[in-house]
Amino acid sequence: MKKIAVLTSGGDAPGMNAALRAVVRSAIYRGLQVLGVKKGYNGLIEGNMVEMDVSSVADIIHRGGTILGTARSDEFKTEEGIEKALDKLRVLEIDGLVVLGGDGTMRGALELSKRGIPVACIPCTIDNDLGYTDYAVGFMTATETVADAISRLRDTSSSHGRANVVEVMGRRCGDIALYSGLAGGAETIVVPEVAFDLDALLRKVLRGKNRGKRHHIIVLAEGAGNPYEISEAIQKTAEMETRVTILGHVQRGGTPTVFDRIMASQMGSMAVDLLYNGEKDRAIAINCNKIVSVPIEDALKTQKLFQHELLETAGMLAI
Ligand code: F6P
Repeated sequence: MKKIAVLTSGGDAPGMNAALRAVVRSAIYRGLQVLGVKKGYNGLIEGNMVEMDVSSVADIIHRGGTILGTARSDEFKTEEGIEKALDKLRVLEIDGLVVLGGDGTMRGALELSKRGIPVACIPCTIDNDLGYTDYAVGFMTATETVADAISRLRDTSSSHGRANVVEVMGRRCGDIALYSGLAGGAETIVVPEVAFDLDALLRKVLRGKNRGKRHHIIVLAEGAGNPYEISEAIQKTAEMETRVTILGHVQRGGTPTVFDRIMASQMGSMAVDLLYNGEKDRAIAINCNKIVSVPIEDALKTQKLFQHELLETAGMLAI
């Protein structure tokens, strides 16, 4: 193993830069040459790469986003696209690849590893929707951002005696809503993993209002319900003025938390070690506070389990 490449793909996640820094510096420490691939798998297809040295990753551990740029590549989903990427990897004599991203990125990595390219994956997605790891890089930072937004919204909601429906990201996964809702003391958390009961929500808002509560924060995971319909129902039935806040991409940026930086650093360093030691297809995870790795195919097959007991705790504490 002499030369490796590293890329970031899919939606960016705070902490990707910290992982990149760890990959580049661990590789240099091991005497390897490192190429940084621009804009995800598209850069691999086009051969859009730059040599990374120690200073190329200076001053980025604390920055959100990814200095390499990212993309969701449609071309890489085709056989032709994969062939083009393989060709570039062969011509540039790249012996191994580290990819940072979510499940789509890992599916792409699996295709390359099946065709003989040694690959190590670092889970990076704010959604935390990968079943094989307790946490993905970026999730804790996004959750922190949402919890902060909830606190701010509670201030103004209490002042006006309003309800607030806060829509958060997560694709089909309710983890951002669950963690930020609990941490932010939200009255109601709505996630795609649990059937939404509008009547129960309205009863809860009314109950709170009748005992003098000045606000009601509903954290709604995207896709789990329509925030405007929920807002209208609250205004009509509970007669509580309601506002909708869609947090959107604000959740994807910002300074990564210490947790994300440390996990990203450990994972980046392990990714290089795995390739250096001849491993061919590994997905890195954190399980029970230990950084471990599993075959990529096993990682992708592991079902994501929703923490129903945590939602129950949140519900119990928000009576
Ligand atoms: O996967 C990360 C994520 O932010 C999801 O939570 C969200 O559904 C999606 O990406 C948004 O995608 P885009 O950035 O392409 O709008």
